[in-house]
Amino acid sequence: MASSEPGDVLILGSGLIGRSWAMLFASGGFKVKLYDIEQQQVTNALETIRKEMKILEQSGSLRGSLSSEEQLSLISGCSNIQAAVEGAGHIQECVPENLELKKKIFAQLDQIVDDKVVLSSSTSCLLPSKLFAGLAHVKQCLVVHPVNPPYYVPLVELVPHPETAPATMDRTYALMQKIGQSPVRIMKEIEGFALNRLQYAIIGEAWRLVEEEIVSPSDLDLVMSDGLGMRYAFIGPLETMHLNAEGMLNYCDRYREGMKRVLKTFGPIPDFSRATTEKVHQAMCVNVPDDPEHLGARRQWRDECLLRLAKLKRQMQSQ
Ligand code: NAI
Repeated sequence: MASSEPGDVLILGSGLIGRSWAMLFASGGFKVKLYDIEQQQVTNALETIRKEMKILEQSGSLRGSLSSEEQLSLISGCSNIQAAVEGAGHIQECVPENLELKKKIFAQLDQIVDDKVVLSSSTSCLLPSKLFAGLAHVKQCLVVHPVNPPYYVPLVELVPHPETAPATMDRTYALMQKIGQSPVRIMKEIEGFALNRLQYAIIGEAWRLVEEEIVSPSDLDLVMSDGLGMRYAFIGPLETMHLNAEGMLNYCDRYREGMKRVLKTFGPIPDFSRATTEKVHQAMCVNVPDDPEHLGARRQWRDECLLRLAKLKRQMQSQ
């Protein structure tokens, strides 16, 4: 199985994540076919991608070494899935997060694919053992979970089914590197993979601190955005430990007992009660009211920050 050449890419589902994948694969020089159950979604996706690529090119933020026109010429829409599967080396499923729908799609693909193509799901939280159960081509299946917005946040989690072939993981790892993403291998499937487990650990403690009125919601966010997050944009929690003392061994000698003492005081899983949710909601709406205009503007600002941060990270890495 799994030839070393990735071949063309087929994307199933042309929503938010499907569009991002199309841009990323085209930036790496791959031919991309976009499929959707709604033909209009493909038309919209192709228009949006064109607009976005032009804006990115003008601001010097287009990824890859090809011009926007060259990249755009690599992306086309398609309406016949059977024909699109032929010649595809990598299929990236991006349909809504619904186990039954995704299982149905992988069962369809299982009937028509050869033994070379990689079948990959973008799912945020469905486990590979559920998604790919019983497929004849299970060795070629894995989850490749991107982070929104994938064009500016390069991490992708590769999560295997217990029967996924090591060659499938290796080949997908290499493909992700080739398109400039940062793959990580999750060795065994687990609820939430790695990113959402860390995210939920943070959300859980953030909620407890706010619920117990230790800190206000806006100050809680500041602890992350002007505190921990500053470092975490460049180094992870383990390297932070390593650098905050004379190496990891020294850090644990110094802080082991203190960490354990604080960790023991962590409370139970919050129930995200209506009362606290309303309190946090009100606090969030002071700066960002929850109407589509304000939320959209703030998301745009966030993406602009991420774009500039991605540029800064590239500069820092090349130094
Ligand atoms: P979306 O709702 O924007 O797009 C889904 C697309 O799939 C729509 O265009 C829809 O018409 C199409 N579709 C529905 N049924 C289909 C079928 N049978 N065949 C082909 N296309 C079909 O969803 P979004 O946000 O792009 O999410 C896609 C996947 O990516 C989900 O599994 C989600 O969990 C995952 N994901 C989403 C992230 C996010 O922040 N939105 C981040 C990481 C992963």
